[in-house]
Amino acid sequence: MTVIEIDGLSKSYGTAKAVDGVSLRVERGEIFGMAGPNGAGKTTIVECASGSRRRDGGTLRVLGLDPQSDRRRLLQRIGVQLQEAALPDAIKVGEALRMYASFYDKPADHRDLMDAWGLADKRRAGFASLSGGWKQRLFIALALVGNPEVVFLDELTTGLDPAARRTTWGLIRDMRERGVTVVLVTHFMDEAEALCDRIAIIDRGRVVAEGSPRELVAKGRSGSLDGAYLALTGRDMA
Ligand SMILES: Nc1ncnc2c1ncn2[C@@H]1O[C@H](COP(=O)(O)OP(=O)(O)O)[C@@H](O)[C@H]1O
Ligand SMILES: [Mg+2]
Repeated sequence: MTVIEIDGLSKSYGTAKAVDGVSLRVERGEIFGMAGPNGAGKTTIVECASGSRRRDGGTLRVLGLDPQSDRRRLLQRIGVQLQEAALPDAIKVGEALRMYASFYDKPADHRDLMDAWGLADKRRAGFASLSGGWKQRLFIALALVGNPEVVFLDELTTGLDPAARRTTWGLIRDMRERGVTVVLVTHFMDEAEALCDRIAIIDRGRVVAEGSPRELVAKGRSGSLDGAYLALTGRDMA
């Protein structure tokens, strides 16, 4: 079943085209990666799909709903990773989970979530006192608190050290095991290859390549991918 259908999506900021005719399909239960250099348009695509930004053109369906006209209904069924600035420094882990649970009609039990994601011992810890890895774990739990069918993660591991990144990869795989469809934005090609069932490479507002990690590597070897992929991987394709 297709859970995200994007056709000809476009979005400009002023005269600058950030997204220029993007079409994508995401199937239920997969980890779908969007990789590409900074400024490629990845975040804008995610914002349009998750109902936080209006598009200029194209059609968009997430779980059969239009993120603009059915925004309220859609927000009950998706999870979006928060950016760091969204939480006050002094809020405690348990409080943050209870507060976000209150936004949903059918939230997960926040104690179960804390147990599942290893946060029970941090229940009373203030947000500002958490290390980067623990903050990411909390953001994952918050993205899941509404029992979402689709979760959008945007640069979840940026800024983490390699060990914390690996731990987070395990958590993202756990999400898929629980049946959640994951859209993962990253500018690390190794991360996309390690985690994703399918990847779209975005460059200058367009999809420049798409496929499973294996297909993309094969295309890279055959020389049929453009420079954006090579720049991302840093691989010598000769
Ligand atoms: N709120 C905004 N106002 C103006 N320009 C923006 C805004 N958000 C993003 N842009 C521009 O749109 C382009 C795509 O940005 P973005 O979607 O954030 O890309 P990515 O997530 O791939 O780094 C960039 O050129 C960026 O500078
Ligand atoms: Mg971005």
